[in-house]
Amino acid sequence: MKHWILAGAAVAALALVGPAQAQQPIVIKFSHVVAQDTPKGKGALKFQELAEKYTNNKVKVEVYPNSTLYKDKEELEALQLGAVQMLAPSNSKFGPIGVKEFEVFDLPFVLPDKVALRRVTDGALGKRLLKLLEPKGMVGVAYWDNGFKQMSANKPLREPEDFRGLKFRIQSSKVLEAQMRALGAIPQIMAFSEVYQALQTGVVDGQENTASNMYTQKMHEVQKYTTLSDHGYIGYVVVVNKKFWDGLPADIRTSLQRAMDESTKYANDISQTENDEALADMKKSGKTQFIELSADQKARWKNAMMPVYTEMSSRVGKNLIDDFEKAIKATGTN
Ligand code: LMR
Repeated sequence: MKHWILAGAAVAALALVGPAQAQQPIVIKFSHVVAQDTPKGKGALKFQELAEKYTNNKVKVEVYPNSTLYKDKEELEALQLGAVQMLAPSNSKFGPIGVKEFEVFDLPFVLPDKVALRRVTDGALGKRLLKLLEPKGMVGVAYWDNGFKQMSANKPLREPEDFRGLKFRIQSSKVLEAQMRALGAIPQIMAFSEVYQALQTGVVDGQENTASNMYTQKMHEVQKYTTLSDHGYIGYVVVVNKKFWDGLPADIRTSLQRAMDESTKYANDISQTENDEALADMKKSGKTQFIELSADQKARWKNAMMPVYTEMSSRVGKNLIDDFEKAIKATGTN
C-alpha cells in the first residue's frame, strides 16, 4: 500500500514537473518603438502568430510595442546583451552600434520608389549589408518596409530657406544630420518615444517621418504644417540576437525563418495602405495643413540636399553608395 502511494506520488510529481518542464516554450521577446497599428506593429503581431503556429507553440513570442521595454538606442544594447531576442530598428539606427552602412538608405531622394528599394533589399547588396551585423552579435533576418517621409513644422516648409534656424528632431543617423544641416536647420537626435512631447512643448520645431508614424503618435496634432515631400525613406532590419539564433534547434530555426518570410511579405504588402490610410486620417482631422510641392520646389529641395552625398561618402562608403545606386537601376539580379 505504502509503495503504491509512493509510486502514485512519483507519477503525479512527474506529470507536474517532468512534462511541464519539457514543454517550457522558448521565449522570444520582440521589442519595438512604434504603435501596434503601424506596418511594423502589425508585422510583429503577424510574426508572433505564425511563429507560434509553425513551431506548435514550442516558441512563444512576446511583443512589446511603443517603447514599453526600451527606447531606440537602449533596445539595440538590450539585444546585444540578450535581454531581448528580436527587434526591428530602422536603417537609421545602426550607426551608434558601429554599423554606419545602413545610413545609405537615409540619403535624400535616393530611392525613387519601392520597386527600386526591393532591388536593393532582395538582392546581393541587401545580403551584403545584413552580414555586417554579425560581428555586432546580431543576425539580420529580414527587411521590413515602412514608407517615405514627410516633413512637418509649425511654419510652412515650401522652400529650402524655410528650414533655416529651425530645430528638427532626427533619428540617430549622421546622414540625416547632414541632410538637416544642408537645409540650414539644426538637427537634434531624439528617441522616437519623446518626439510628440518635444514637438508639443517646442523643444524642437519640426520633424520628418512617415504618415503612419506621425498619425499613430499624434504628431499632426502638434504640427501646423506637413509638407508632402517624400524626400527620404524609413524601413527596418529585423534583427535577432546571434547567440540565441544560432543556439536554436535547427527545426525550430527553420520554422521561425518561414514565419519571418511570410510576415515580411505581409508587412511589406500592407505598408503602403497603412501609410495612405494614416495620411487620409490626418487630412480628415484638419489638425495639420498639408502642403504639396511643385516640381520646381522639389527640384530646389533636391538641389539643396545633394551635397550630403559627397559629404557622407567617407562615412557610408563611396563604393557602397555607387553599388546602391547601381542596384536601384538594375533590371536583372544584382
Ligand atoms: C523614428 O525613430 O522616427 C522611427 O525609426 C520609428 C520607427 O521605428 O519607425
